[in-house]
Amino acid sequence: MTPMKIFSGTANRPLSEKICEYLGEPLGNMTVEKFPDGESFCRIEEDVRGKDVFIIQPTCRPVNDTLMELLVMIDCCRRASADRITAVIPYFGYARQDRKDEGRVPISAKLCANLLECAGANRVVALDLHSAQIQGFFDIPLDHLSASPVIDEYINTLGYSPEEVVVVSPDAGSIKRATKHVSAVGGSLAIIDKRRHSGSEVEQAHIIGGPIEGRVAFLFDDMISTGGSICGAAKVVKEMGAKKVYVAASHGVLCGPAIERLEAAPIDEVVLSDTIPLLPEHQKLKKIKRLSCASILGETIKRIHNHESISQMYKSLRFTTGQYF
Ligand code: R5P
Repeated sequence: MTPMKIFSGTANRPLSEKICEYLGEPLGNMTVEKFPDGESFCRIEEDVRGKDVFIIQPTCRPVNDTLMELLVMIDCCRRASADRITAVIPYFGYARQDRKDEGRVPISAKLCANLLECAGANRVVALDLHSAQIQGFFDIPLDHLSASPVIDEYINTLGYSPEEVVVVSPDAGSIKRATKHVSAVGGSLAIIDKRRHSGSEVEQAHIIGGPIEGRVAFLFDDMISTGGSICGAAKVVKEMGAKKVYVAASHGVLCGPAIERLEAAPIDEVVLSDTIPLLPEHQKLKKIKRLSCASILGETIKRIHNHESISQMYKSLRFTTGQYF
């Protein structure tokens, strides 16, 4: 079988190291750096000719730099005659620009997909894309994963009975995600009516479903960016009598006023996966609980390499290896 090679960009090396630990494979030797003027550069320090190459890089902040770095790494491996190149993108930046919802705006998520294919990616692995339809922006195979198994597993360790739990979708776009969490952790379902006024300002008032009063509320979103959506939703459920409020998201984008908002919001715990590294200023928010999705990504890489089913993986494995830290 073609040997496997795993490389990491600079966006989230600790996650890449954990994935390699899961696989029992060393991280490939690649120099990834910047020229003095800010241009991305990389050089593979070992042979990749005929290898099955996986490049791990979330396109998180600084988004344009991490995206460009990923593109040059793919180009580099293609020109070095790798047999197959899989871009493993735990967080896919630009995903919210996935449609023309007004005139004269780009569909940047599609542009990113084009760039990745043009650079030479043969496959993509993504995790909790903002919208599942982004898969269709690619004409190469894309395995779309979810961090839900490690998040649900953690929630189940908290020991709440299904009768005390209400799972809350912070907007209409997250209903499908919320119903899946209801199947995994139990409880009833509630949906918040969210209206967005700008990139950082939202309005939330009405709730459909429930009940909320006296329940432990779990709010799930794909990402927490400025924190406007999730903090507003937490405030609504608290005002409606929730006795505890947990929020969980796969991607902790955490930009702008996010930390101040999360600190001030009536939230007991913020559960995030490790697709995006925390900055030093994020660490001061003591109510963050981080779970690793390295086992999900590692198992996926193994299965792609061995030509095994990914959907079967979710059916047959319990991801109890999501570390808490
Ligand atoms: C929106 O559709 C997304 O699912 C998230 O709710 C949103 O992008 C989070 O952004 P923010 O934290 O800035 O409200």
